[in-house]
Amino acid sequence: MTSHYKHDVLVIGSGAAGLSLALHLPRGCQVALLSKADLTQGSTYWAQGGMAAVLHDRDTIESHVADTLAAGAGLCSREAVEFTVRNSRRCVEWLVAQGVDFDLRQDQAAQSQREFHLTMEGGHSHRRIIHSADRTGQAISEVLGERAREAGNIEIFTDRVAVDLVVADGRCQGAYILDQQTGSVDLFQANAVVLATGGASKAYLYTSNPDGASGDGIAMAWRAGCRVANLEFNQFHPTCLYHPKAKSFLITEAIRGEGGRLLLPDGSAFMQRFDNRGELAPRDVVARAIDHEMKRLGIDCVFLDISHKPREFLESHFPTVMSRCLEFGIDIAAEPIPVVPAAHYTCGGIVVDTRGRADLDGLYAIGEASCTGLHGANRMASNSLLECIVFAESAASDIAGDLGRLPEPPPAPPWDESQVTDSDEDVVISHNWDELRRFMWDYVGIVRTNKRLQRAQHRVQLLQDEIAEYYGNYKVTNDLLELRNLAMVAELMIRCAISRKESRGLHYTLDYPEQLPEARDTVLVPDNSPLQDQPAA
Ligand code: FUM
Repeated sequence: MTSHYKHDVLVIGSGAAGLSLALHLPRGCQVALLSKADLTQGSTYWAQGGMAAVLHDRDTIESHVADTLAAGAGLCSREAVEFTVRNSRRCVEWLVAQGVDFDLRQDQAAQSQREFHLTMEGGHSHRRIIHSADRTGQAISEVLGERAREAGNIEIFTDRVAVDLVVADGRCQGAYILDQQTGSVDLFQANAVVLATGGASKAYLYTSNPDGASGDGIAMAWRAGCRVANLEFNQFHPTCLYHPKAKSFLITEAIRGEGGRLLLPDGSAFMQRFDNRGELAPRDVVARAIDHEMKRLGIDCVFLDISHKPREFLESHFPTVMSRCLEFGIDIAAEPIPVVPAAHYTCGGIVVDTRGRADLDGLYAIGEASCTGLHGANRMASNSLLECIVFAESAASDIAGDLGRLPEPPPAPPWDESQVTDSDEDVVISHNWDELRRFMWDYVGIVRTNKRLQRAQHRVQLLQDEIAEYYGNYKVTNDLLELRNLAMVAELMIRCAISRKESRGLHYTLDYPEQLPEARDTVLVPDNSPLQDQPAA
């Protein structure tokens, strides 16, 4: 038995982007907010570091803009960068007004003024990361989640996985949504649909991301006819905990910001050999340096040492890292932490403008699922929570301005399951899932070559064929949907990587080690793009 829901706005995703957008919409607007699991399972909740904003009196908008452009290796959109940075202080004020408790400076002079404690991260030339100890994402998620639950106009649906968008007459009119509790695929219709579904780092074997980071929004938007861009730029975070039982645990970059040193097993530091900014070089540089040293010495990990800091300092600034490491018998106040790089952030995504509009009328994308032009070829640390809040606000205001004029979606057909049965071979899903993530790690990882990318392209094609056959014959499940989406996004990542004939930012290939003089976005246009019908300018 399937259900049919109708709201003014359908928000798919319940991280910082989705929640902020829902809260920015007028109270008269009926919103459905969908979460794949519950509000604690997304990437926002896991974010340790913080949010970059121009708050220090010696910092400037120009400096934050310049640092972001430099990290993005010539590929950022200046318009998007300036738009984001200009709005950073206001977004912090909005979060504080919602009730988010950011850490304050502890010294007395600053306390009397209620000055925020700002930390440092790679690529930033000032202390500008506002944070709640090392659980900033959790603090933001909990407060925004609470505000959303209080708001009478926001209906939160948990355990819902989007299958595909409903598109008719060139307009996005809703989505088919799997209810994981009942197994039914329901129809959610809305005048505007927002994809706030996060990134696709789960395409890689080793990742800092939660399980749901399977690129659902990117894959759905592509299938529906939207352009995607710059998917070759997947960021590898340099430092994830290396321990056989520590699945996906990030060691925040703020530890390096507070003086943490990267060491080889013999205790020697190595980052200065790669970049004179040392441990605070941008992430691509640090991740590649670690990868290089691991391969050169045949070692399983390197070490991050912050043990020179007083225990009380570490307990107050890094309680999450400290307690999680202790669970594995590592006392960060007394010994270095074993770390390895892991896939962390999808810099490319669905092409949108500064209002978050994608190529289809009625469809918006915000947060990690989108490609706004802010990150270019490499995201600067802690710019992404900021992007979520800034673009959530601008998209909400665009939707609110349009709502009165948006046509009511005409009835759409319910999901048809008459041709499919329950799967009897779930091993196909788990096998293909493992294979995909393994070859993405080996062939489309930190260092690429033409040959590796071609191998990956061949394999992803085989997988896609097998998945399509499976999808056509069996009832959908969360695992099948995530695999289908990940394989789709992996294919798009590989296509983007193959078409870039240079090394730039996060895309490093031994076949083209130099950067070309002109920076160009990699834009993929699907065959069913509405732009194909437009007359050439
Ligand atoms: O290292 C971190 O805490 C991560 C920050 C980010 O990805 O922005």
